[in-house]
Amino acid sequence: MKTIHAVVEGIGHGIPSKVLTNDDLSKIVDTNDEWIAQRTGIRERRICTEDETASTLGVIAAREALDHAGIAPDDLDMVICATVSGDMPFPSTSCLIQDAIGASKAGAFDLGAACAGFIYATATASAMIEAGQVRNVLVVGVDVLSKFVDWTDRSTCVLFGDGAGAIVLHGRTDTDRGVLKTVMLSDGGGAEHIKLEVGGSKYPMCSPRHGDHSHHIFMAGREVYRFAVTAMGDACCRLLDQAGITAEDIDLFVPHQANLRIIESAAKRLELPPEKVFVNVDRFGNTSAGSIPLGLYEAERDGRLKPGMVVMTVGFGAGLVWGANLIRW
Ligand code: ACO
Repeated sequence: MKTIHAVVEGIGHGIPSKVLTNDDLSKIVDTNDEWIAQRTGIRERRICTEDETASTLGVIAAREALDHAGIAPDDLDMVICATVSGDMPFPSTSCLIQDAIGASKAGAFDLGAACAGFIYATATASAMIEAGQVRNVLVVGVDVLSKFVDWTDRSTCVLFGDGAGAIVLHGRTDTDRGVLKTVMLSDGGGAEHIKLEVGGSKYPMCSPRHGDHSHHIFMAGREVYRFAVTAMGDACCRLLDQAGITAEDIDLFVPHQANLRIIESAAKRLELPPEKVFVNVDRFGNTSAGSIPLGLYEAERDGRLKPGMVVMTVGFGAGLVWGANLIRW
C-alpha cells in the first residue's frame, strides 16, 4: 500500500483591520515604545472590534485557504480549530466555521493547546489523513486574546494581538511533500505560570466562587520566558533527531511569535542564520494559536516558502505545552 502524505494545498489568513501601536498603548498604561520594542520586538498588533471574534477571523482565513487549495467546502472531511479564545464555551468555534463556509460533509472539533494549538492540530489532522480516515482537513489556528487581557496590566497587555491562519491538508500518495514529523510535549506542573482562571467549571463566571479570582490572563513573564527558551530548543532538537536531519537541512524556521528575544535565542541554539528565520512579531505581537499559520501565510506570500522546501515550526504556551512540526511544503 502506498504511503499517504498530508500535504498543505492551501493557506489563508484573517486579521482585524484595527492597528494598536506601542504609542497608542502608552496612552492606556505606563509604558513606551522603547521598552516594548527592546524587550519584545513588538511595534504594533491587530485588535478585534466588538463584532469580530475567533470564528469571524477563522472564517476569513478558512475561505482564503480553500480558494488557494482549489478545494470546495463540501469536499472537506474535518474542520479542526485550534483556539483558547473561542466564541463561546460551546458550541465549538469549529462548528461555527464549518457552518459559515458550508462544509456540509465535515466533522468539526476545537483543540486547546494555547500557543502550541496549531502544532497540535496539524499533527492531529495529518495523523488522521495518514491513517486513511479522512482525505481533506481544514486546520484553523485563531486567538483573540485582546478580549481577555487586563488592559490596566502593562506587563501582559502589550504582548498580545488577535489573528488567524488556516491551512487545507489533503491526503496524497504521489508526492514526498507533506507533514514529515511531529513532536508534542507537556508539563502541567507549570499550569500556574499562564492562566485564565474564571469561566470554566472551577470558577464559573458570575458564580460566588468567581470571587477574587481573575477573569483576565495572568502570566508570570520571567518563568514563561525561561520555559520558552528551553522548550523551543528542546522541541526542535527532538524533531530534527527523529527526522534524522540537522538544522542545516531546514530551509525556513517559522517559530511561534511571542517575543523576538525568545526567537533569536532559539535560532542561536540551532545555529540558524537570520535569513532562515521568519519574524513578524513586530507587526502582530503574540496571536497565540494564530501565530504560526499567520507566519506560514506571510512567508509563502512573500516568496520565502515554496513547494518542496523544508519548514520547521515550533510553538509553546499555557499548559504548559510545546511542540514542533516538520513539513515539506
Ligand atoms: N512597560 C514598561 N515597563 C514595564 C512593562 C511595560 N509594558 N512591563 C513591565 N515593566 C517593568 C516591570 O514593572 C519591571 O520594573 P521593575 O524592575 O521596576 O520591577 C521591569 O519592567 C522589568 O520587568 P520584567 O518582567 O523583569 O521584564 P522582562 O525583561 O522579563 O520582560 C516580558 C517581560 C516581555 C513579559 C518577558 O518576560 C517575556 O517575554 N516573557 C515570555 C512571555 C511569553 O512568551 N508568553 C507566551 C504566552 S503563550 C500563551 O499560551 C498565552
